[in-house]
Amino acid sequence: MAPTTTSTVTTDDQSDAITPPGPTGRENLRILRQLFDEPAPALRELADTFGPVCALGFGPVRVAVIGDPTTLRAMMSTNAAAFRWRHRYNKLGLGFVVGRQSLIVSDGEAHRRRRHAVQGAFSPPRLREWTPMVRERTDAIIAEAARTLPTTGVLEWTPLVRRLILEITVNAIFGRSFAGSAEEIGALMRRPQGLLEAPAIRQVPHPFPFTLRSGVRRDRRDLDRLIDVEIDRLRTTEVEDHDDLLGVLVRSGSLSDAEIRDQVVTLLGAGFDTTSAALTWMLLRVGTDPAVAAKIRSEADQRFDEAAERGDMSELPYAGRVVRESLRLHPPGLLGIRMTASDQRIGQFAVRGGTLVVWSPYLAGRDERSWPDAARFDPDRFLDPTEEQRQLSERAWVPFGRGPHMCIGFALAQMELTMALSRLIQRLDIETLAREMPRPVGTVVNRPEGGAVTRVRLRR
Ligand code: HEM
Repeated sequence: MAPTTTSTVTTDDQSDAITPPGPTGRENLRILRQLFDEPAPALRELADTFGPVCALGFGPVRVAVIGDPTTLRAMMSTNAAAFRWRHRYNKLGLGFVVGRQSLIVSDGEAHRRRRHAVQGAFSPPRLREWTPMVRERTDAIIAEAARTLPTTGVLEWTPLVRRLILEITVNAIFGRSFAGSAEEIGALMRRPQGLLEAPAIRQVPHPFPFTLRSGVRRDRRDLDRLIDVEIDRLRTTEVEDHDDLLGVLVRSGSLSDAEIRDQVVTLLGAGFDTTSAALTWMLLRVGTDPAVAAKIRSEADQRFDEAAERGDMSELPYAGRVVRESLRLHPPGLLGIRMTASDQRIGQFAVRGGTLVVWSPYLAGRDERSWPDAARFDPDRFLDPTEEQRQLSERAWVPFGRGPHMCIGFALAQMELTMALSRLIQRLDIETLAREMPRPVGTVVNRPEGGAVTRVRLRR
């Protein structure tokens, strides 16, 4: 593509940039639909046919798919002003669900201010304060699994895992006094999350009542009411809970009440579905490999209590590597999206302004050039890597994204996943029944088709 005078944020000379290849005609339409319907096979097909960067779409609908770690790195380190997160597609679904003032659909100064306020709530000391709560919630779920275990000993983990992560997320956001409302909040989040997974046509704005969209609007109003009551309580009473995220947002004084509500709904949505999907995949993976389970257990027997009491995850390095390896192969988001604000050069590729850039941690995590024996589940690939391997994996491990919109909850997610996995495997023998890993289903967040069905035996 020739250099353009309309480009306001051009990172490099475009004269030798390559226009990405891509399908044409019907193939173009077919794979574009599949990409947002069932992303995993579409991403694989595109990478196999056209290489790691390719272009799709027609007319004003332009899409570039990036799964190559080198180009991804170039994209992630490009100035944030080169991209928009508040673009027309995000406004339809995501912006409607989390609110237009959410940091996840904000750009520029508004994003910086909102992100700064939320970031303050994720400090390392606060993370350490949450670890006893994560242990307590995990133990409660283990007790429930034990109580409700069918005589066959076979359990599908999805509902228990979702409840565990919901309870942890609600505790972290609202504080312990709110823990009893987790179920109500979970019910109010169900329809909004369903809307994000629904076909694009159902996300288009319309005035009709009794539809998925009108139901989501109602749920959001109820959720807002609940948040408002808590904001009032925090402002008017001497509150003992000091470790909750909402308290930090209210005390920061830099956000309006409407902005606080949007950030709270964003944290709930972004923190709950993703982390529970990740833990479901992890249990399936560990359940296929008794040697991995034995190492997690032996480490937990020696160090779990200390890790939980001190809030120090470096006490559980093996469980941490299992979490990392599972996120490499099964990132909860198979793709992320942003839009180019103007014509850009991304790595060696020319991408026109207004292109929806679809980047894939799933393709990067399975990139054969970055990961020796990429399909193998091997937590110890992260143990003492060579400098070259460290650099390769650094750019190819992106389940939380990178750059200015990188996941703000990544430390919380890694802490809760490490703690929950370590404790569950310490207390339970889990054996996955499926012979092969199920296919991922879901577009925004993916989980194993059919759930995580395992045989479970309680350990003393
Ligand atoms: C395994 C669990 C998780 C994964 C894989 C994950 C992944 C991601 C990804 C890929 C992004 C987008 C990055 C981009 O667009 O460049 C993101 C953004 C975000 N995540 Fe997470 N996330 C997880 C857990 C959490 C948790 C626990 C929270 C908070 C409770 C959270 C809150 C957010 C927020 C607020 C954003 C938007 C940040 C911004 O736009 O500045 N996430 N996450």
